[in-house]
Amino acid sequence: MEKKQIDWANIGFNYIQTDKRYVSNYKDGAWDEGGLTEDANIVLNECAGVLQYAQTVFEGLKAYTTEDGHIVTFRPDLNGERMENSAKYLEMPVFPKERFLDAVVKTVEANAAYVPPYGSGATLYIRPYMFGSNPVIGVKPADEFQFRVFTTPVGPYFKGGAKPITIKVSDFDRAAPRGTGNIKAGLNYAMSLHAIVTAHEEGYAENMYLDAATRTKVEETGGANFIFITKDNKVVTPKSDSILPSITRRSLLYVAKEYLGLETEEREVYLDEVKDFAECGLCGTAAVVSPVGKIVDHGREICLPSGMDEMGPVTKKLYDTLTGIQMGKIEAPEGWIKVI
Ligand code: PLP
Ligand code: COI
Repeated sequence: MEKKQIDWANIGFNYIQTDKRYVSNYKDGAWDEGGLTEDANIVLNECAGVLQYAQTVFEGLKAYTTEDGHIVTFRPDLNGERMENSAKYLEMPVFPKERFLDAVVKTVEANAAYVPPYGSGATLYIRPYMFGSNPVIGVKPADEFQFRVFTTPVGPYFKGGAKPITIKVSDFDRAAPRGTGNIKAGLNYAMSLHAIVTAHEEGYAENMYLDAATRTKVEETGGANFIFITKDNKVVTPKSDSILPSITRRSLLYVAKEYLGLETEEREVYLDEVKDFAECGLCGTAAVVSPVGKIVDHGREICLPSGMDEMGPVTKKLYDTLTGIQMGKIEAPEGWIKVI
C-alpha cells in the first residue's frame, strides 16, 4: 500500500484530515449498525446536548508501524473500557467495547496510508468520541448520541521531542474531589484551557495540578500522568481518585517491574517531597514519556538532578522499553498488541 506523501519527521501534534472516519448513531434506545464515511463534518441542531451542556466523552490511542511492517494498536481494549466508564458517568449510553474495537480497526484500516512508517518518529493518533446530539434545553441528558472515530498522523506532543520541559505548579485546580477528574470528558479539558494558555504565556510547557482539597499533593497535568524516580531507582506514581487512570502509566508500572526489575509504588505524592526525586516524567498516549527537567512553584525552582539536556537514565529505559514493545522490537505481554 502506497503511503501518503507527508513529511513525517516534521509534523507536530496537529490535526491532519484523513480519508475515512467511523460513525454510529444512537436513537430510540439502540445504536445503529454504524460504518465508515468520507464526510469529516457534522451537522447538529443548535440546541444539541453537546453544544449546550458539554455532554461528550473521548479516548485517545495510537496505531504504529512495527519493525516488520505490521500496523498495530496498543491495548485498545483498555480504551474501550475507559470510554464505557466515562459514558456512564455522563449519563450516556455505553458504546460496547467490542464494537469500539471493531470501529477502531475499521478506521485504521481505511486510513492505512496515513499510518507513519516505522522509524519515522510519527504515529497515527486515533480519536474515538461520542456526544449528545439531540436538542436539550433543560439540564438533562440527551437521548440521541453519535459515536465517531477519526484518525490523524501526529509527531511529538511537546516541541523538542525528548528534551526535558519546564512546568509550573498551577494556580488553578483541574478536578474536584468526587468530581470528573477520573473520566475522559471534554469538560475537563475545557476548564484547563485558561490554565494552559496562562502557563504558555509565562513560558512553561505544562501545568502540574495539585489536589483541589488540600493543594499539597501532586495530581497530573492537563493531558498526562506523572511518574517520578527516586534516588534509589524506585518508580513512584501519584495515586488519586481525581486523575485519569492512564493506560500508559499502568503499562509503565508493569514494564518497570516485569521487564526492568524495578520497584514500583502507587501512592500519594506530596509537592514537598518532589525536590527529593531523581527524575520526573509525564506519561500518556500523546506525551508517550516526556521528561520534566524543572518544576516551578510560585518562584521556587525545583530542578530535577537529571537536568535540562536529556531524559534521566531510568526514564529513558522505561521509554525505550515501552516504545520497543509498541513498535514490535521487544516482545509484548500477552494481549497488549492488536494487529490490524
Ligand atoms: N491524564 C490526562 C488528563 C489525559 O488526558 C491523558 C491522555 O489520555 C492521560 C492522563 C494519559 O492517559 P493514557 O496513557 O491512557 O493516554
Ligand atoms: C492522549 O494522550 O491521548 C490525550 O488525550 C491527551 C490529549 C490532551 C491530547
